[in-house]
Formats: sequence, structure tokens, C-alpha cells
Amino acid sequence: MRKSSARFVKSAKQASDFPRDRKPEIAFCGRSNSGKSSLLNVLTNSRGLARTSSSPGRTQLINFFLIDETTYYVDLPGYGFAKVPKGIREAWGEMVEGYLRNREPLKLAILLVDSRVPPMQSDQVMKEWLDHFGIPSLVALTKCDKISRNELSKALRTCAETLQTKEIIACSATTGFGKEAILKKIHDVIDRNPTQ
Ligand code: GTP
Ligand code: MG
Repeated sequence: MRKSSARFVKSAKQASDFPRDRKPEIAFCGRSNSGKSSLLNVLTNSRGLARTSSSPGRTQLINFFLIDETTYYVDLPGYGFAKVPKGIREAWGEMVEGYLRNREPLKLAILLVDSRVPPMQSDQVMKEWLDHFGIPSLVALTKCDKISRNELSKALRTCAETLQTKEIIACSATTGFGKEAILKKIHDVIDRNPTQ
């Protein structure tokens, strides 16, 4: 296995707090509880790097992790979490939008969708939004360890239709399934878009 380093750099709320060293960034977005922080931990081989929780709404700020001193993985707060008061939900939405819009170092947004739940309108809106702003995206269909092969084939078809994309990788943070495919995609995108 390739040796790599990963460390937490900062939590941010607004553009003035974001890193300024122009290293390429990969963002993890999706509904609350879809598995963003868990996937980030698996991709970096570091269990407790990003905090995870069984109750939605764990990640409340934009968290930047520096990988191999070259790339930021950006863990975003989730959307679609009904139990959070409306004002806070709106503030999170603004925070995420404020990051995704006009973020020059952002090279790829990984949109996470729980494989047990068909994509919701909020996921569609997010995907349309990424397309509208020309942000390359990859859908990660998460928690595949929880469903059968047949269910997975069906989930892949539904996801492709609803989110209008062929860029989907099924994965599991529990078994590591799909990890290498996602890392390959990340490395391809970065190799094609060197910054600095
Ligand atoms: P927010 O920060 O609230 O937006 O959530 P998140 O998208 O970061 O989700 P998180 O990684 O915290 O995971 C939510 C729950 O799902 C946790 O209980 C995880 O252990 C569980 N989980 C995440 N990925 C997987 C997976 O691949 N398989 C299984 N079985 N459980 C998973
Ligand atoms: Mg999280």
C-alpha cells in the first residue's frame, strides 16, 4: 500500500478562512449521514481523522484536511437534515454554497448518496448546481455493504437516471470496497489539473 500522510488543517466558515496556498481541493458533499466523513477516513487510511456520527449533522463547519502535503480533502456539512432549526440549516447551505461557488482550487466534488435511499430532490438540486457551475463531479454510492448485489445494480441504475450521470462508483467505508476506484479518479483529476 502506498504510504500517505493526512492531517487536519482547519475548520472554516467563509471564504476569508479558506486556505490560500492554492493546492488542489477535492470536496465531499451530500446529505447528512450519507457517509462523507467516513469515506474521507477510509481514503486516507486514518480512522478518526474526520469525526463521524450515527446521528446526522455531525460536521458543522467546512473542514480542510491536507493529504500528502499536496491536496486538500474538504469535508462539507451535510444537507437535508430536518431536525436542525431552519436558521442553522440556511446558514449551513450558505456556507457550502459560499465554498463551492468560485472556489478556483476545487477540482472535483464527490457527491455521496446512501445506496439504501434513492437520490432525493436535494441530491438532484446539488448535482444540477455542480453542473451549472462547471464543477466536475463523481457520485459515490455509499454503504454498499448494507445491500445485496441485486439491490446495488438497481441503486446504480436509479442513481444514473435521477442524477443524469455515468460517473458513479459504489463504495463502502466498512469494507473498503470502491476505495481504489475513487482514489484513481481523484489522482486522474489532479494530474490533469495541476495548480500552483
Ligand atoms: P454529517 O457530518 O452529519 O453530514 O454526516 P456524514 O455524511 O459525514 O456521515 P458519517 O461519515 O458521519 O456517517 C454516518 C453514519 O453512517 C455513521 O454511523 C457511519 O458509521 C455510518 N457509515 C458511513 N459509511 C458507511 C458504510 O460504508 N457502511 C456502513 N455500514 N455504515 C457507514
Ligand atoms: Mg460528516
